Amino acid sequence: MAEPLLVVKDLDSFYGDFQALFSISLELGAREVLAVIGANGAGKSTLLKTIAGLMGARDDAIRFEGAPIGAMAAHRVVARGIALVPEGRRLFASLSVEENLLVGGQLRRPGPWSLARVYDLFPVLADRRDVPATSLSGGQQQMVAIGRALMSNPSLLLCDEISLGLAPTIVRDIYARMPQIVAEGTAMVIVEQDIGQALAAAQSVICLQEGRIALAVAAGSVTRADIAAAYFGV
Ligand SMILES: Nc1ncnc2c1ncn2[C@@H]1O[C@H](COP(=O)(O)OP(=O)(O)O)[C@@H](O)[C@H]1O
Ligand SMILES: [Mg+2]
Repeated sequence: MAEPLLVVKDLDSFYGDFQALFSISLELGAREVLAVIGANGAGKSTLLKTIAGLMGARDDAIRFEGAPIGAMAAHRVVARGIALVPEGRRLFASLSVEENLLVGGQLRRPGPWSLARVYDLFPVLADRRDVPATSLSGGQQQMVAIGRALMSNPSLLLCDEISLGLAPTIVRDIYARMPQIVAEGTAMVIVEQDIGQALAAAQSVICLQEGRIALAVAAGSVTRADIAAAYFGV
């Protein structure tokens, strides 16, 4: 049987001398969605940044499409097909919506995503394509950040707290588009504070606590009480 799309095995991650992740192991198949939850400081963003190549790791600790990528530089990881929607969106303030999207497409990886397809996914962006990205509402900016990542035609999309600070209706609107993203052949890892949203969108869930996996389960088989216990360590 072929190896899963993403295999993380005994992954440690450090900021200088400070160890932020301890022996993390997980697997994700093509077109699957994994939710990562946990309190502030648990290591969720560090996990996504490490998978995206923004932090160093043992080469074999992260395997993608059958090859080790743990020690690979971030730009090469993107070229391999992993895109990150970073915490806080990080749009280019001086660029328009469309220019931000085009930045994501610079690699010209083959695949389904194009400006037209991103505008189909988020029609409100088409109307606002020429305005500065940072003049948009928070929810629309998050759509730009997701669209920019999709423009690299990733087979794995990493989303860091896309609902943070957004109104519930906008969050529902964004999550409603996720099945379309997966249907195009993209697997996703979503870091999410909203546990209900995480369980609804994902097939499997891991809960991080102080850099370690406290719980790893199928989304359908877990209760909020199980998650609360893992989340708070009670
Ligand atoms: N740039 C950094 N330098 C040093 N320590 C960091 C840095 N970023 C995060 N940390 C630490 O690493 C741990 C995990 O942080 P992070 O991955 O951002 O957590 P989360 O995303 O779950 O809130 C925390 O203890 C945090 O203080
Ligand atoms: Mg974070």
